[in-house]
Amino acid sequence: MKARVAVHRDFKISDIDERLYSAFIEHMGRAIYGGIYEPGHPQADAQGFRKDVLKFVQDLKIPAIRYPGGNFVSAYRWEDGIGPKDQRPVRLDLAWRSKETNQVGVNEFADWASLAGIEMMLAVNLGSRGLEEARNFLEYVNFPSGTSWSDLRRSHGKDDPYKVKMWCLGNEMDGPWQIGHKVATDYGRLANETAKAFKAFDRDIEAIVCGSSNDGMATYPEWEREVLEECYENVDYISLHKYFGNKSKDTLNYFGKIEETGRYIQTIAGTIDYVKSKKRAKNDVHICFDEWNVWYHIRDEDSHRWRTWDWPEAPALLEETYNFEDALFVAGLLNEFIRRSDRVRIACIAQLVNVIAPIRAEKNGPAWRQTIYHPYRFASIYGRGEALNVAVDAPMYNCHVADDVSYLDVAAVYDRKESVLTLFVVNRHLTDKAELDVSLTGFAKPALFEHHAMEGYGLNETNGPDRPDHVAPKQGAGVGIEDGKLKGSIAPLSYHVFRLK
Ligand code: AHR
Repeated sequence: MKARVAVHRDFKISDIDERLYSAFIEHMGRAIYGGIYEPGHPQADAQGFRKDVLKFVQDLKIPAIRYPGGNFVSAYRWEDGIGPKDQRPVRLDLAWRSKETNQVGVNEFADWASLAGIEMMLAVNLGSRGLEEARNFLEYVNFPSGTSWSDLRRSHGKDDPYKVKMWCLGNEMDGPWQIGHKVATDYGRLANETAKAFKAFDRDIEAIVCGSSNDGMATYPEWEREVLEECYENVDYISLHKYFGNKSKDTLNYFGKIEETGRYIQTIAGTIDYVKSKKRAKNDVHICFDEWNVWYHIRDEDSHRWRTWDWPEAPALLEETYNFEDALFVAGLLNEFIRRSDRVRIACIAQLVNVIAPIRAEKNGPAWRQTIYHPYRFASIYGRGEALNVAVDAPMYNCHVADDVSYLDVAAVYDRKESVLTLFVVNRHLTDKAELDVSLTGFAKPALFEHHAMEGYGLNETNGPDRPDHVAPKQGAGVGIEDGKLKGSIAPLSYHVFRLK
């Protein structure tokens, strides 16, 4: 197929907020215990953090991480995770029917985040608890000294406050499964009062209010309107969540879900604009897509298991093994976030280690990278700068979830400081090569200096502990600069990162 693409250096969508490449990790399954933390493992440091996992995390250059949940947070007592470890209570985690030992709490997690070079984004429990416990947590975490909560932190050996800026006001409060689930107006009022209290403490706090759990919820998108009408002036972001899958084994329809996600983002952007106008508000609210990933390979099996098991401690849960098709999907979804970066400022891959994650850590064994790790890493390291508008003239298809889906998916990011243009390209065509013809306007004599490619794999091919780098990027070929244009052909079902200077 022929694919004509036009990029202009000055046709900018937005300055990308680097937090677009953030992550999420929850106290569930083996994400924390057995994931980032496994005392006794040959790779564990003095605190019990796995150095092999940490290295893979550091390579991703993740800007921020949402913690400690997820559904878990809605019945969590943050005080259980502070102070001497041998005095911490074991509790029942009602979200995942497991035992929580509290051996990792906010202070240990802060140590790990600092080793990983990641800023913390903390969620408060607005399910089983409320404003009072949330404000105490904020004071414990962020106040320097001289108050009861801040001095308690100091007595735990943490003299300096963490200065956490991003605070999530609960989790998926629209979901009937959520502990302390609420109707929109009740939640909106509670979120408003909590955000007010947080901003009374520090007006630079960024408050993230819960949007719908996904765009299939019966209350979507009324939930967003009702919630924002209660709290618009006091919040900075509204969250979106969406998980994806290809149960019907229809690859093109799977890729069409990226288009569907664009509509989801657009709908919420419209709802934000509507409420802003209705309230005659001055402030802007942006989108924080704080849970996204592929989750379907063992979802049904898992959901049956955890609902019936007998409160295990750190059980294997949601340990999805991703294939090459999922890597192509994740590459495309990240492209969509780049194209929508004027409204989506923060996005978090859910999750980071073991639980629906790009990194896996075997018990007493090695850590390894899944197929999806690679497009996530490329977007994170090269997707910073200005998102540029890209015009694509390529064949399109219709599928169950969307019409007019382009077979060629392109996002462009320009790093003005380094004068580097990065193109992220997915050829979604099942059988046809794409003959690229990319005009580059406003770039003086561009030269292609890097080309990474993921291609030639079967859609179901995966990595694993025994073949950790089976599906991985290689140096690309067959594309180059001709008469100032980027030209050449790329294989069907392939992903490419082109870097030009
Ligand atoms: O990431 C797994 C779960 O998915 C989270 O706990 C919840 O917020 C979402 O439903």
